[in-house]
Amino acid sequence: MYQIIDFKEIGDSRGSLVAIEGSKNVPFEIKRIYYIFNTHSDVVRGRHAHKKLKQVLICLSGSCMLRIDNGFRKEEILLNDRTKGIYIGPMIWRELYSFSSDCVLLVLASDHYNESDYIREYSTFLDFLKGGS
Ligand code: TYD
Repeated sequence: MYQIIDFKEIGDSRGSLVAIEGSKNVPFEIKRIYYIFNTHSDVVRGRHAHKKLKQVLICLSGSCMLRIDNGFRKEEILLNDRTKGIYIGPMIWRELYSFSSDCVLLVLASDHYNESDYIREYSTFLDFLKGGS
């Protein structure tokens, strides 16, 4: 349903660095980057699936919770490690919640923003999985 990517932390006496390269340590060419911050703790973000888009989520600061759902099974993952990415492929419902006030969530995406790639209704998501639309 998802994969954890362990990024190599390159540390020396000056501190730490993580390098991310499309189609190398992330399984797609990166076409878009966005980040989410200043999110209130009682807010739920996401609440959608993508038809084709692939994404990697990295919590750079603070923490948040990720709920993912393939229509059959749900999992909840704590994101609080800036050396780990969560890869989510197409047709996975995702919700993000319990954001700490200092949470900065970086998202790498395989394509440009395209509203027609979104499935924003959970019932439509289940219909898609059944082969409908
Ligand atoms: P939305 O998809 O609702 O965010 P989330 O899934 O994190 O809750 O996006 C919020 C707004 O930002 C919406 O008006 C679309 C816009 N947006 C862009 O313009 N480009 C982007 O890359 C993203 C992710 C969102």
